[in-house]
Amino acid sequence: MKILMVCLGNICRSPMAEGILRSKLVREGIDAEVQSAGTSSWHAGENPDRRAIAKTKSYGVDISKQVAQQFTSKHFEVFDYIFVMDEENHRNVMSLVKNEEHKSKVDFLLNKSYLKSNMNVPDPYFGGEDGFEHVYNLIDQACEVIVEELIKKSK
Ligand code: 4NP
Repeated sequence: MKILMVCLGNICRSPMAEGILRSKLVREGIDAEVQSAGTSSWHAGENPDRRAIAKTKSYGVDISKQVAQQFTSKHFEVFDYIFVMDEENHRNVMSLVKNEEHKSKVDFLLNKSYLKSNMNVPDPYFGGEDGFEHVYNLIDQACEVIVEELIKKSK
């Protein structure tokens, strides 16, 4: 099982989602891979935003060594599930879809916790620290559902 988290810059939301989900997978002993990517190339090669690192660290998750990469159509071949943070990421990812199989892999992350809502994880980049707390909680809830589903599937 391979899961990709996608946002715009790959320095705030999706690296937090990568780290949070990975820590839950480890906690449950689930053998699955998780990575993240950004639909822009702006921050490729960079570590996450220091505010994202600090917020996740305060919950015991270290994302400081993760490195940003740009989302490309190749990711459709490698990953089983591609979770986007917001509608802009969704449009960008969908614009690279080549077939129905690719399309079926893509969903809004928050559809895990808020069924069929197509809700956005708000972009915290230009806001304050409060934004990162809100983002952490939204992502944490959704990742908990992903893990519960994987546990059910393995039984
Ligand atoms: P992310 O946040 O998509 O959650 O990584 C952003 C990071 C950088 C920018 C925008 C959003 N930016 O404009 O550089």
